[in-house]
Amino acid sequence: MRIVLGVGGGIAAYKVASLLRLFTEAGHDVTVIPTEAATRFVGVATWEALSGHPVSNSVFDEVHTVNHVRLGHEAELIVVAPATADLLARAASGQANDLLTNTLLMAGGPVLMAPAMHTEMWQHAATQANVETLRSRGVTVLEPASGRLTGADSGPGRLPEPEAIFAAALALAGGAEVPDSPDTPVPGASSQSGAPLAGAAGPLSGLTVTISAGGTREPLDPVRYLGNRSSGKQGVALAAAARDAGARVRLLAAHMDVQAPAGVDVVRVETALELREAALHAAADSDVVIMAAAVADFRPADVSGTKIKKRDDGADPVISLVRNPDILRELVEIRDAAARNQLIVGFAAETGDADGDVLEYAQAKLRRKACDLLVVNQVGKDQVFGQDSNSVVILARSGSEPQEASGSKSDVAAAVIDRVSAELSRAVPPA
Ligand code: CTP
Repeated sequence: MRIVLGVGGGIAAYKVASLLRLFTEAGHDVTVIPTEAATRFVGVATWEALSGHPVSNSVFDEVHTVNHVRLGHEAELIVVAPATADLLARAASGQANDLLTNTLLMAGGPVLMAPAMHTEMWQHAATQANVETLRSRGVTVLEPASGRLTGADSGPGRLPEPEAIFAAALALAGGAEVPDSPDTPVPGASSQSGAPLAGAAGPLSGLTVTISAGGTREPLDPVRYLGNRSSGKQGVALAAAARDAGARVRLLAAHMDVQAPAGVDVVRVETALELREAALHAAADSDVVIMAAAVADFRPADVSGTKIKKRDDGADPVISLVRNPDILRELVEIRDAAARNQLIVGFAAETGDADGDVLEYAQAKLRRKACDLLVVNQVGKDQVFGQDSNSVVILARSGSEPQEASGSKSDVAAAVIDRVSAELSRAVPPA
């Protein structure tokens, strides 16, 4: 796909080099158009080397090719990141005072803008009005992420992570409705390797697999959180097994006691809401999504900005909780609404009781969550959390026989990935 990548003049321009790598490594042909100010943060040489194309920001270069007309017409997608307050204003008012704004006016395909600026600038009525104008004209303007900004400040205004922009861009180009995702920032999300590595030969070769792992942490105050005992070992073993099966792997890593494996792309998340944001974006271009993370079902209703202190009157603090969204269920709903060919795998930790055994409860959960495969752990018996071994039953919505797998977490991961490959080949019979 031919992509024009417009780069605005903000410090976040450096992150856009990773975004460019994601596009080029996925085989897209990218022409970078930085603004004059952007070249003060990242030089033209970097954009030329990474894109493999000459880079200019002037309409007076290559005049004989009428560059902006050609670029605007040829681009199947235009992505602008970081979209600064100035760039949003110029685009909204239809200015054409450099190559990027000219090209935007010539755009024939979808346009995605990923803003980044200080919180006050983002929340300013002028910027918000410009965003409204652009959205009303069909431009997809992502909400900025929340988190640490350039100075000592923090809040909404961070550039969404390159992986999130990449996923949103591909979804948009594929005709999907891309949410602006206002309430689901990805603070602290980061890419470990910069780009998913191209997969080796194997049953999942050419496919993109997103795997969540570890336990979410739900903050109570700046120092305390509600967490769980998930170690991330099973999710990491799955990521390694999917990589070895030839997939490009994106690991959405909540808190983990173990290192992410080499050769997978890592997006770090902390809370269930951050995981939701990362998962919805990543799912947009994934063939398989495996939700192995232990997601907190509840989060504190209020997060104190300062450390909760012991009270002089001796009264105990009361913590109220609110429900977190069910990410797995949401992924299935989005997949089904878009009638996409995507395999979704859930995990379940179950205990049996007088009313039913583990498998009965697990079958009910499979129906409730409507995912394609459910990997069921019986908790309590084999102490799953933090252990190196595991014993599971894999249930399939297709109704095929439950399959048992046990051994090291790598053995279990290999069995799950084998089953994923088998389900995929059942879904698409060979020609
Ligand atoms: N999950 C999710 N979002 C949540 C909670 C769980 O996506 N808010 C996913 C987990 O990653 C896992 C699956 O759902 O793949 C099962 O999680 P579990 O907590 O066992 O299921 P619940 O629906 O919370 O069921 P229960 O009522 O038994 O707690």
